[in-house]
Amino acid sequence: MKSFEEKELKSGLLLAIESSCDDTSVAVMRGRRLLCQKTASQAVHEQYGGVVPEAASRAHLANIVPTVAVTLAEAGVKMEEIGAVAVTRGPGLMGSLLVGVSFAKGLAQGLRVPLIEVNHLQAHVMANFVEEEGVEKRCPEFPFLCLLVSGGNSQIVLVRGPGEMEIVGATIDDAAGEAMDKCARVMGLPYPGGPVVDKLAKEGDAGAFELARPKVGGLDFSFSGLKTSFLYLLRDKLKENENFIREREKDLCASLQRTVVDILLEKMERAIAEHEEVKDVALAGGVSANSELRRRFEELAERSGRRCHVPPLRFTTDNAAMVGAAAAWKADRKEFASLGIAPYARVRINEE
Ligand code: KG4
Repeated sequence: MKSFEEKELKSGLLLAIESSCDDTSVAVMRGRRLLCQKTASQAVHEQYGGVVPEAASRAHLANIVPTVAVTLAEAGVKMEEIGAVAVTRGPGLMGSLLVGVSFAKGLAQGLRVPLIEVNHLQAHVMANFVEEEGVEKRCPEFPFLCLLVSGGNSQIVLVRGPGEMEIVGATIDDAAGEAMDKCARVMGLPYPGGPVVDKLAKEGDAGAFELARPKVGGLDFSFSGLKTSFLYLLRDKLKENENFIREREKDLCASLQRTVVDILLEKMERAIAEHEEVKDVALAGGVSANSELRRRFEELAERSGRRCHVPPLRFTTDNAAMVGAAAAWKADRKEFASLGIAPYARVRINEE
């Protein structure tokens, strides 16, 4: 077979697939422009209070064919018109990634079109480049600083170009989303806790409880001390009043959320000060759906005299449009993958 690197795309239409965790997301893109995106979420995990890897891969298997069919139909695109298939190779849950990668390889081979592999963390950053019909958009200019905060990652990334990303600060233990989800869980809130904390915090007093703030040098963060102090607070207060959590739920959520956002933005502010050459700052990842983080990130950008980019909510949590946006740059440069690729459970943002 002719090597993919020598091939020309038969069309600018990309089919992008994201299956790294518990969302089966498919997008049809023309370059970086999104034509249609559909995401099948997996309710099966709610009863367990977290993602069960085996259940996730089985649900991806059930969802992937219908999700692709519906996305193509709504985009008004026929399967044979697709010019390349893009897929998340990692990091993520191995069983979940295997479903997306195997499907994408089979489809690329069947259609005789190139396969494009995408690093999931880079894709989150590239969510800031997704374009949509009728939506006014200004993309970040390189180099820019991106605060990438998701369920599994919290890092500050210096983005010099598409695929050229340097980690300038990162969590030394838990990710921000993981810490929020775990605190929500001990309060008995449903999974994932992040969006629930965000909702309840709106009516709470953010100054009600003082939680631990880490003393970590440089641009790194830590969330494990915050998690422990939250747990001890609940333990002590529950001894005095067994209804404490229910009575103070909103204040607890507001205090937790404020502390997480303070920790993230203190380091982001420092990163901006250390990178005078950077004129643009961006937010990415599932936790960037958080309303307080979005608001205060915009205030920080304004205060620092930087242009601010915050992706629309539908491109913050796992989605295929961000995979398509990352793949579009690779398609331009003919960076195609071999059909022999296997998923990576672990890979950093600056590794391919
Ligand atoms: O990026 P994502 O969908 O998955 C990973 O790649 O990790 O992020 C999921 C994380 C979860 O921890 C979830 O609780 C959090 O994003 N999240 C939020 C909000 N929406 C989602 N955290 C705080 N506030 C939100 N509104």
